[in-house]
Amino acid sequence: MSARVRVRAGVPESALRVLAEAGFDADVGPLEVEDCDALLCLLTDRIDEALLARAPRLRIVANMAVGTDNVDLAAARARGVAVSNTPDVLTDATADLAFALLLAAARRLPWADRYVRAGGFVGWRPDLGIGLDVTGRTLGVVGWGRIGRAVAERARGFRMEVIWHGRSGGVSLDELLARSDFVSLHVPLTPETRHLIGERELRRMRPHALLVNTARGPIVDEAALVRALREGWIAGAGLDVFEREPALTNGLADLPQVALAPHLGSATTATRSRMAELAAENIVAALRGQPIPNRVV
Ligand code: DGY
Repeated sequence: MSARVRVRAGVPESALRVLAEAGFDADVGPLEVEDCDALLCLLTDRIDEALLARAPRLRIVANMAVGTDNVDLAAARARGVAVSNTPDVLTDATADLAFALLLAAARRLPWADRYVRAGGFVGWRPDLGIGLDVTGRTLGVVGWGRIGRAVAERARGFRMEVIWHGRSGGVSLDELLARSDFVSLHVPLTPETRHLIGERELRRMRPHALLVNTARGPIVDEAALVRALREGWIAGAGLDVFEREPALTNGLADLPQVALAPHLGSATTATRSRMAELAAENIVAALRGQPIPNRVV
């Protein structure tokens, strides 16, 4: 019996090419797993025990994302289903977007864009659209993995002082929050990092500071963030991810000091293609009984 590979609709074509070259046909479509040997899924697919129980033949879940918080890893492990992710290939694109959001929020670009389009620009004024300096300021990076370090590299081009907090060391989270002009989050979502940034942490930040989140929404208590922005505990935020994606906490979209993006961290043509290929390469290895290059479980 030949292996059945299910690829979720929306995955870039490059994944299908990798599978075809390796001799595997794929069905592209919804999250149906009953007769599958391998699944190439999206970060919006919830891969839980109930789904795994319906897939007795499944050997690998290849997630087209570096984060695997949408997959119940313990349930997969218990059933002997491998799980893989797509690290490295999205590091630069995600770091670029984190920096873009930092600059956009600091220099009020969402407001500026709306202002010009609405015909508000009727002449230069010394007090128009005043934002925050970035060059030479202090960036606090929370999570010192590949993406956090790549953001730090970009910050050095802006002559920023970079401080960091991570599992392998750095300063304490409290010190980082108290010293940073910009705080950028780069930790995976786990039970330990859920609401890592809540009211207590937001109140420790400086009143002129900005928070940037390109990691996962639930790392920040979004209701507390809305209060922090409304009441001026911090000055602004750049957000690519949301606590209850795609929904936004009430009031967030009305705050002019926030730059928002719809989870675009890895959204470049080359990066998304490479993520799809990498996920397919993990499937090929699993189905051939070879070591899975980006195995998480
Ligand atoms: C990931 O890979 O986890 C990002 O959120 C999407 O690229």
